[in-house]
Amino acid sequence: MPDPGGIIYFDASAETLAREIAQRLPDGFALASGAAPAGGWCLFVDRNGLTLRDGGNARFRWPDEPAHGRRRASRSALARACAVGPGVRVLDAMAGWGTDGLALARLGCRVRMVEVNPLVFAMLDDRLHRSGVCAETELADARSWMPGPEGERYDVVYLDPMFPATNKTALPAKPLQVLREIVGEGTPDISDLLQRARRCALSRVVMKQRAHGPAVGDPDWRIPGRTVRFDVYRPSA
Ligand SMILES: C[S@@+](CC[C@H](N)C(=O)[O-])C[C@H]1O[C@@H](n2cnc3c(N)ncnc32)[C@H](O)[C@@H]1O
Repeated sequence: MPDPGGIIYFDASAETLAREIAQRLPDGFALASGAAPAGGWCLFVDRNGLTLRDGGNARFRWPDEPAHGRRRASRSALARACAVGPGVRVLDAMAGWGTDGLALARLGCRVRMVEVNPLVFAMLDDRLHRSGVCAETELADARSWMPGPEGERYDVVYLDPMFPATNKTALPAKPLQVLREIVGEGTPDISDLLQRARRCALSRVVMKQRAHGPAVGDPDWRIPGRTVRFDVYRPSA
């Protein structure tokens, strides 16, 4: 029985497209024709492509973005924290919508993006496919990729946990609102993920944090930013 999060609903006009999308995804995603269920987030294909729907209504879809269509932010804080360069192997262990992973891939890194939530994974995989950017995706708990199934290690392991809830009332941007609704806030096992990441990384582990939020453990150095900062850890022996 597939995980309910892995069911893709489609309307009659989009059957061929729905089959193409499902074929690219890993085993466990199933197709179901007809209307999306009345409650909760689900994957839905119409003639415009894969969308997320909530209760059959709210929609979320990544716009098309060409492989080289965005400014290459080679001096961004993320790029400096990861010491990016052509061929640098990056494990984006908490890939989410893939915004950071795509940016690193566009800068020439060889990126593997791991995401544990099937709804988020399907949207990530579709976004990557439509962007034409070259990177790999895995639907998995990152713990099984640190190290990888064949002992793979990476120059950089990048961790971008869900931040804990705050009492701020301003709404974040739509993609983050949707992500919070689907996966929740906070990452209780982040210390464990960090320890594994430090054993798996050959050069460094980079963790995104709120600019003034507490660090996990004891970072070796930090790259500050206006809203977020990047904490950098050396690998453990
Ligand atoms: C803040 S988001 C990442 C955002 C991403 N950096 C981007 O640019 O779109 C964190 C993601 O980590 C995922 N996640 C949490 N624990 C995980 C785990 N153990 N393995 C893989 N993914 C995990 C969540 O499902 C969520 O999608």
